[in-house]
Amino acid sequence: MSLTQNRESGAIPRAQQDAVGRVTADTLLQMKRAGHAITALTAYDFPTARLVDEAGIDVVLVGDSVGMAVLGYDTTLPVTMEEMLHHTRAVGRGLRRALLVADMPYGSYQVSDEEGVRNAIRFMREAGAQAVKIEGGERRAGLVRRLVEAEVPVVAHIGLTPQSVHKMSGYRVQGRSSEAIDALLADAAALEIAGAMAIVLEGIPREVAREITAKAGVPTIGIGAGPDCDGQILVFHDLFNLTFSPAAKFARRYADGAAFFSEALQRYREDVVGGTFPSDAESYHLPRAVRDELEQLEEACKV
Ligand code: KIV
Repeated sequence: MSLTQNRESGAIPRAQQDAVGRVTADTLLQMKRAGHAITALTAYDFPTARLVDEAGIDVVLVGDSVGMAVLGYDTTLPVTMEEMLHHTRAVGRGLRRALLVADMPYGSYQVSDEEGVRNAIRFMREAGAQAVKIEGGERRAGLVRRLVEAEVPVVAHIGLTPQSVHKMSGYRVQGRSSEAIDALLADAAALEIAGAMAIVLEGIPREVAREITAKAGVPTIGIGAGPDCDGQILVFHDLFNLTFSPAAKFARRYADGAAFFSEALQRYREDVVGGTFPSDAESYHLPRAVRDELEQLEEACKV
């Protein structure tokens, strides 16, 4: 058993967060218009969701990056609907203020728009998502329209789209030729017209992201797309060096979580092996009267 519910920390105390109100699609739009940077981060479980929320991050994405960051897959492709629902529910329990966006996994929307809408509705009904994210450009405009008609807010995702890793022949920066730039601009415009509430721009040159952001009427949220987007998103495990692989160029490490955990784990092991954990103070004791009774019994047995 571990008690994890009643802690308060971070930029916004939980009690205050209830009063702050929930971030919505409209909040993000107002932030873009006011020139206020949107902060976004992934989370995959209850404790990290709480920490991210309490730090005042605006958007929490339960990314299908859970497959690589948490589940140990090589790509995001094997991640299932059930896995995404499971993690989205856990994250949802940790949030008070941040907008909860669920990533639709590979195969959950590519076969047909009907299936895409049905799966998106599962995220809203069964996991409390406030929006879903789908990868792909202009070719997803029809699906975006169908989702919005079904009351599902949609975050689009263009540029380097990890679910297309094989089609792209690897994780490569996109939008480097003039044709590719035109295609990205057309993608962003089509998705906005279809009703996307925001567009994630991943792995594209800064100059291209700046142009898309300037033209877009909805917020852009960049990852590996330079500082001129309306907001930024990173993967939680990249921020804390918990990926067991070299950091991508765009992923700034804010703390060395691997070193932090490793050092504590080593000390725990040493304490158990050396007999210094648990101490007497970390042990439960009998009530005084029962202890006295036992001691008297032991004494009596000696004679
Ligand atoms: O799955 C993910 O984490 C993502 C983002 C980082 C945008 O798609």
